[in-house]
Amino acid sequence: MVKLAPSILSADFSNLLVDVKAVEEAGVEYLHVDVMDGHFVPNISFGAPVLKSLKGKTSLFVDVHLMIENPDQYIADFVDAGADSIGVHVEATRHLHRTIQLIKSYGVQAAVTLNPATPLSSIEEILEDVDMVLLMSVNPGFGGQSYIPQTTAKIKRLRKMIDERGLDVAIQVDGGIKLSNAKEVVRAGADILVAGSAIFNSESIIETVQAFREVVK
Ligand code: DX5
Ligand code: ZN
Repeated sequence: MVKLAPSILSADFSNLLVDVKAVEEAGVEYLHVDVMDGHFVPNISFGAPVLKSLKGKTSLFVDVHLMIENPDQYIADFVDAGADSIGVHVEATRHLHRTIQLIKSYGVQAAVTLNPATPLSSIEEILEDVDMVLLMSVNPGFGGQSYIPQTTAKIKRLRKMIDERGLDVAIQVDGGIKLSNAKEVVRAGADILVAGSAIFNSESIIETVQAFREVVK
């Protein structure tokens, strides 16, 4: 079954727990946590202390997407803040293998993330070591952008790569996912859909989550 991962980047920060509870009650599986440092991406969101404020208050799987330079330096903080999975960008890490091993040493899942222009060949040697590959379908930094259409072919190629090697690696797609394109993304091979603005900016979170379930089933 396809998993839904609402991004709290589009939540109401002044009522963060209320919004988290709303998606939890709507029955999503993951909570997608977008961390931006203003260096790797041209925007700043929040850091580990904000995530820690939710610790123990949600049963959702906490999926941290680090859009930061020097991710190694902050991994322990995000584990302590309640992360169940931590993802790093290949473009932000010099020693990706070391970073992935560091994440796994804390007993949490490890994900590797690719910007839209980064080829799949960049993860050929690390695919066996990760739990998830996150394909960005927008240039990271902001919610509410449009899905880059070439991502669909990239998802298909990644699906093939994973299946040919017989691996149990999940494909997550992040950016511009709406009710109108969710089916295309899932058909291409995605296992987990991130959706920020489509869920949190909707009239009814519960109805939107149900609508996503309908279109991807
Ligand atoms: C982009 C973030 C995304 C973003 C998704 O830098 O990684 O997770 O918040 O937002 P929407 O679904 O609005 O494109
Ligand atoms: Zn994200």
